[in-house]
Amino acid sequence: MLAFCSVNQSEPSGAAAGSCGRASGVGRSKLEGDEDSHIDVLAAAAALIRRFIEGYHEKVEETRVFPRFEKAGKLVDLVSVLRQQHAAGRGVTEDIVKLAVPATDGDDRGRLASSLHKFIRMYRPHEAREDTVLFPAFHDLVGQKEYERLGEQFEEEEHKMLGENGFEKAVTEVAQLEKVLGIFDLAKFTPT
Ligand SMILES: [Fe+2]
Repeated sequence: MLAFCSVNQSEPSGAAAGSCGRASGVGRSKLEGDEDSHIDVLAAAAALIRRFIEGYHEKVEETRVFPRFEKAGKLVDLVSVLRQQHAAGRGVTEDIVKLAVPATDGDDRGRLASSLHKFIRMYRPHEAREDTVLFPAFHDLVGQKEYERLGEQFEEEEHKMLGENGFEKAVTEVAQLEKVLGIFDLAKFTPT
């Protein structure tokens, strides 16, 4: 369920978005199957979402990116939906954090699977829309020079909020969780 949706470092879209989709299946398939649910992995993923996505990434979008569109009167309907989805996502993460505990079973397990499904269902198109519509328009809106300046500013904020190499550490954490779940090997996802 990890999702790192669009803002990252020197390029305001891209690598973080990749991480978003990359681990979005963490936990769900295991929960729905007979295997050990790896609830601890899910709890770690939810904590990472709160720290990296909600605590840093979405805050940057909400304070540095969305206001530029609102002020310019551009893509305001899209920005409004993206804001609402950030708020809804926080609610879903909150539910996941509450339910991703070892005692979860029965109905709560079903609710947890449902919350994961909601999270993935919303954030995949959310991320895709930001990458294909919002950020290309953001580049056009602010111009290349300002785009680059903002990229540097985002990186500074990332270091302040997450520490040095905060993004790299988060990606390493995602990889470790994927390895625990046996979904790290990209080649496994190639249809045969
Ligand atoms: Fe977003």
